[in-house]
Amino acid sequence: MKKIIALVLAAMLVCTSAVMLASCGDGEKKELHMATNAFFEPYEYYEGDKIVGIDAEIAEAICDKLGYELVIDDMDFDSIVTAVSSGKADFGMAGMTVTDERKESVDFTDSYTTATQVIIVPEKDAKVKSVNDLKKASIGVQLGTTGDIYVSDKYEKSGAKIERFNKGADAVLALTQGKVDAVVIDNEPAKAFVDQNEGIEILDDPFADEDYAICVAKDSELTDQINGALKELKDDGTVKKIIDKYIND
Ligand code: ARG
Repeated sequence: MKKIIALVLAAMLVCTSAVMLASCGDGEKKELHMATNAFFEPYEYYEGDKIVGIDAEIAEAICDKLGYELVIDDMDFDSIVTAVSSGKADFGMAGMTVTDERKESVDFTDSYTTATQVIIVPEKDAKVKSVNDLKKASIGVQLGTTGDIYVSDKYEKSGAKIERFNKGADAVLALTQGKVDAVVIDNEPAKAFVDQNEGIEILDDPFADEDYAICVAKDSELTDQINGALKELKDDGTVKKIIDKYIND
């Protein structure tokens, strides 16, 4: 009798561990790591300790379609392209503009939305009243962004002083403290900053139209896979729905 009980118990043990293993194997999805800089509302930002926003939700939808689990790695904006080209992250999504210079290091997927660069200034006594005034101004930008590249290329030689910050929010803080005359940054994050800070406004003078896309390591199969998923998500209205959830004007 004891022997039989022992046998049955042993059999049960083998079964349960087999079942556990199997279910473990089934449930274990492969991860895709997304490199971003999560201080860029409404594209990526923290809500508590969770990263939310347009990019986070579109990335989640893409990963769902492709059968991957999304893992978001937050880092400095100017580290994203290197993280992706070196394989540390699988793709970069960060309200990132497609540029020829970046294309030398990474590939870009199809674009999922567009943006412009805008100028934020103090509401009162602004030194910068139009794009032209940037020539001689002190300008805050986020390091390594197209705002940085644009004003550096165009205005640094003519006497503008460029102050480069790791976060857009730090550039805006410098503006509210009178340490810079203007901040050049993407239009939607600019709106979020103006909403969150007293006494600053966006100049009615947008410039530099840009396309946002996802960057992937050069010649990776992932580019086609993401483009396939993205097309379906555009066609069925998911991308628009996600964007409209965060941008409603
Ligand atoms: N669109 C600009 C660029 O590509 C700024 C992006 C900044 N993104 C961010 N998540 N901080 O350079």
